[in-house]
Parts: sequence; structure tokens; C-alpha cells
Amino acid sequence: MPKVGTTVTLEALEEDPYRVYDLLRRHEPISRIEAIGMWYVVNYDDVQAILLDDSNFVVGTPGSLLYDTFGGHMLTVDGALHTTYRNSFRGAFAVGNLRWSMEAWVRASVEGLIDSFPDGGVELRGAFARVLPIQSILRLFGLSESTASDLRTWYDGFEAALANFTWDQSVRDAAHDYAAAFRGRIQEEIEHARARPSDSLLSVVANTSEPERLSDEEIQRNASIIFFGGISTVEALILNSVYALCTHPAEMARVIADPSLLPAVIEETIRWRSPVQTATRHVTREVKINGVTFAPGDTVNCIIAAANRDPAVFESPDRFCLGRPNAKRHLGFASGPHFCLGSHLARLQARVALEGLLGRLENLHLDPTRPAVIRGHEFHQPHALHIAWDASQ
Ligand code: HEM
Repeated sequence: MPKVGTTVTLEALEEDPYRVYDLLRRHEPISRIEAIGMWYVVNYDDVQAILLDDSNFVVGTPGSLLYDTFGGHMLTVDGALHTTYRNSFRGAFAVGNLRWSMEAWVRASVEGLIDSFPDGGVELRGAFARVLPIQSILRLFGLSESTASDLRTWYDGFEAALANFTWDQSVRDAAHDYAAAFRGRIQEEIEHARARPSDSLLSVVANTSEPERLSDEEIQRNASIIFFGGISTVEALILNSVYALCTHPAEMARVIADPSLLPAVIEETIRWRSPVQTATRHVTREVKINGVTFAPGDTVNCIIAAANRDPAVFESPDRFCLGRPNAKRHLGFASGPHFCLGSHLARLQARVALEGLLGRLENLHLDPTRPAVIRGHEFHQPHALHIAWDASQ
């Protein structure tokens, strides 16, 4: 029988990644996927072991699309430099700081977006989920509203560059131009923040005293990964959470009766339909995991979405279940040194978004005439989510 990894196609992964993960788990939980030229690792314990081992498995390699697009930042460097970069930004992402710096503002943004909905139904991705994360990043960085459309253009260019597996030169050139424009805009803000300090993330980092202060170029490059990390991910979490509740009416009724269950909805959604499905690592020296030997230079994709459905850890893993006692053990924000810096900001936006949507849209449900299909194996979400509710009289 041919090795399972030789039969897996990108199309199959895009169409229904969970079916492929299941096949791999049953036959070949560490598998070389020839179509992509990478190892895939699907079991929870193996994924976690790799993510925690940052000496044999690193993020840094100049050969990655992430490095090619943005250069050196916290998700393309390891060790002491990674710690320095991360520490420079982490304060603003602490849960307590976010509550006072972001929550009221995110709530106002959510209310404003819902106010603009037509009566009775809307396509949630375009009207809400794509917009809120951009508005939140503007606020976090202290950028003006007028930068929103540029941010969208730059983001779409970066997304294309990071999926540019054939290294098409025109896609790379466009992304390099967008990255230069983004860095230029951040530099303007750094200078503005030095002249007029505020509580924005960039102002805090730009005004850090020596010797801890990063160079302006380092601030720009790290700002680019924070920006990139915080857009489609949050969009997907909002859409997947609404989808999960609408397709599980009993759970929806429980949450409407008791909104304190919303954090559990968010964690279980991240486990069940992980917005980010993979975390990629590069092998530094020969190393064996669960009987399989990796060679230096190999690329290993840790499939965190598959780990989140490992039956050895999660009972009936394919079920969306609000009472799951260990839902928080999911690896949806990864694990180890590169654990998502923005996890609390993501949770905050999703919670406030759901509070607004569930609180204001009576009898919220999916539009049965336009069913949603969730796809994707990098970012996993519906392409469009048509929702409806009881129109006001
Ligand atoms: C539901 C939303 C989100 C999900 C599922 C998510 C997921 C992840 C994952 C899996 C990683 C690790 C990648 C790896 O190890 O290769 C990561 C890292 C990161 N994320 Fe998020 N993310 C989300 C939201 C955000 C937000 C809102 C921000 C910031 C505004 C953000 C910023 C970052 C940064 C800067 C890193 C790199 C951290 C480091 O290398 O130390 N993320 N995220």
C-alpha cells in the first residue's frame, strides 16, 4: 500500500481538512505529505513535544515565506532574540491591560457595526467579522481611521505572499512593496509617538528607555507580524463561533440564558474548528519523534487543529460540546515559546462580538437559503456566513 502522505492533495486539505487528518491519524500520524514537501504531525502529544522543543525545531529560516515577506521578527527568530522581541510588546497584550485599553473601545465598535446592519439579515463576514479586527488593530497601534483601507490592501497582499508556495516573483514583489509601505506608516507613528507619547502600543514600545529599546526597524518588523497575526484569525474565530452556536440550537439557548458561558463557547470553538490549523517548524539536527526520524533542514507542520481532535485527549472530539471539562487544553494558540501573543485580545474581541450579536439580534440563526461551508487548512472558516434574525416591528 502506498504511503498515505503520497496520496494527500492540497485540494483535499482545503476542501475538508478534518477528513484528511482523520485518515493520517488512523494510518500514519507522522507523514510526509509529498504534495507540499513537508512532514505533517497530527497527534496531540507529538505536536506538543515539537512545539515545546525550540532547540531541535525552530521557526527561523531565511527560506520561509514568512521571513521573505517581513524579515526578522518574533515569529521568525528563536532563543534570546525572540525573548527580547516578545518582551518588548507583551505588556500591552496582558489581559488586565487589554480590559482598560481595549474593551470599551471594541464594544463601541461592535455596537456601531451592528447599528449599520440592514433589518432581518446580513452576510456577517463582510459586514462585521472582516471589519472588527482591522478597527481593533488601528486602536491598538494608535493609527487613525483613515489608515483602514490601506491596512486592508496590505493585509490581502501579505496573505497572498504567505500562500505563494510557488514563489511567484510578482506576488513577492507586490508583498515587498506593501511591507515597505506598512513599515513607512509605522515609522511615521513612531516619530509621532516620540513627539507626543500616548498609551498606544507603538508609543509604549517607541518610548522604552535604553538599553531595552528596539531599533525602529525592529519595531516595524515586529509590528508587521502583530498586525498580520491579528486579522484573519479573529475574523475566523468570530465566524466559527456564530456558526457553532447556530448549528447547535440547544447550546445557543443555554448561552442566551447565561452569557457567562461565552468564554467556554470561544474555547470549544477554537478546539472544534481551529481558526489557525498549523504551526510550522524547521529541523536543526537529526531528531526522532514517536519512531520517525527527521533530518536537518526538514520542514514539519504541526497540525494543531488535528491535535485538538485527538481522541486520546478529547472525548468524542468531533462533537461541539459546551460542558467539555478539558476544552482549554486545546492547542489552537499553539504552545511553547511562540504561544500566541494576541490570545487575550482575540478572546476579548470574540466575546464582545458575541455579546453584541446574541444580545441584539433576536432569534439569530443561519439563513437556510444560503448555507455556509467551512473550508481551509491554514485559516479555517466559512467564505461567507449569511445570518438572519427576527426583524424589528
Ligand atoms: C483566534 C485568533 C488567533 C489565533 C487562533 C491565533 C493563533 C496563533 C498561533 C497558532 C500562533 C503560533 C504560531 C507558531 O507557533 O508557528 C500565534 C502566534 C502569534 N500570534 Fe496569534 N492567533 C490569534 C490572534 C492573534 C491576535 C489578535 C494577535 C495580535 C493582534 C496575534 C499575534 C500573534 C503573534 C505576534 C504571534 C507570534 C508570537 C511569538 O512568536 O512569540 N494573534 N497565533
